[in-house]
Amino acid sequence: MPQSVIMLGGGIIGLSCAFEAALRGYRVIVLEAGNFGGQASGAAAGMLAPYSENTDQPDAFFRLCLQSLNLYKPWVEKVEAYSGMSTDWVRSGSLNVFRHEADLFPLWSRIRWHNEWGAKAELVEGAALRELEPGLSHEITAALYCPEESHIYAPGLVAALETACRKLGVKLYDYAGELLDLAFHEASGVTVRMAGIPAISADRIVICSGAWSGALERWLNISLPIHPIRGQICSYESMPDDLRHMIFSSQAYWVNKPMGRIVCGASEDVAGFDSSVTDRGIERLIRASERWLPHLTDKNTAHRWAGLRPATMDGLPLIGSVEGKPSAIMASGHYRNGILLSPVTAMLACDLLDGRTESSLITAFSPNRFTALRSV
Ligand code: FAD
Ligand code: GLY
Repeated sequence: MPQSVIMLGGGIIGLSCAFEAALRGYRVIVLEAGNFGGQASGAAAGMLAPYSENTDQPDAFFRLCLQSLNLYKPWVEKVEAYSGMSTDWVRSGSLNVFRHEADLFPLWSRIRWHNEWGAKAELVEGAALRELEPGLSHEITAALYCPEESHIYAPGLVAALETACRKLGVKLYDYAGELLDLAFHEASGVTVRMAGIPAISADRIVICSGAWSGALERWLNISLPIHPIRGQICSYESMPDDLRHMIFSSQAYWVNKPMGRIVCGASEDVAGFDSSVTDRGIERLIRASERWLPHLTDKNTAHRWAGLRPATMDGLPLIGSVEGKPSAIMASGHYRNGILLSPVTAMLACDLLDGRTESSLITAFSPNRFTALRSV
């Protein structure tokens, strides 16, 4: 049995895996190149929305998302209990809003299969919709109401996980700098050399380096087509009743956070590792806000920021053991849903550490699937 494990990366995935591994009795080390949650995880809107993010079919990815949503309540309770901090988790429900009657036809099959998987979704129109969410534009004729979806304050969850990990004795290194070398030992185990700290060894390593995980190809000897997709996002000052539900439209989404901010996101830009905010990116969100939520018209944005989502070539995460490197596990590429997927990823990665055979839940997410393609 392995006793020690390194999490390479201190975003939501690395910290969640560290928390769960520490609870299971491992000696855990987190190596973070910059600051904890300083990349995608700190930028996220924090929506836990498996139904709104999966509209086509109940495939393996949807099932993974749903499993994670179902884990969230006990997970957050544990994180809050160990950290003594709040994560502002709110079961607000969501409304997917539509302006044209023609948009409603494809909804019926979606409602049917979503409800087979526990969504309790229903179509809401006219006065009933206005009563549910008075601030919506009158152009909106109908909405798909999904009461089960929730949201969390992502930077708060990251901070709580960091504190919980410290209390459990996890060794946390931030600003560890550039990764210089990853040496796998013949029998088992790994040594990591980073620019800012002395070399560190452990029995296992979990790769949780988000959009930067592709750089590990040279040491893992598998194909890792992971690339950054920038999300630009902004917020407005708000009162609790300004927006009661998460709103998804064809142009943007909105979430009202308990600390008095409506968060509006987000672009999907191909901009390499550039995480800057552009006027063009935010103006698109402002125009969408004016159109769908008229009370935001003429309001200034309170904050504007951006993050780099870790996207893979097929849009699915990489969770599993690395072929040919028995000490390495991947937990990367969570693209638009890493906050939602953090509890299930932590469970699955730690099951692999425990030596439990790979769950049927993750066969679709094998980190070796692109290497197989390369050799065809
Ligand atoms: P990151 O948070 O990027 O963390 C990876 C960490 O690894 C970084 O801190 C980085 O510095 C570090 N690192 C990189 N290379 C190395 C190395 N070699 N050694 C050590 N450390 C390294 N998801 C949701 O579920 N719901 C949402 O509502 C949502 N909204 C989003 C909105 C926006 C605008 C964006 C950008 C993303 C959103 N996401 C959302 C997606 C979510 O943020 C990501 O899927 C998730 O944060 C990925 O987590 P991660 O830990 O893998 O990556
Ligand atoms: N899941 C929302 C986003 O990635 O912008």
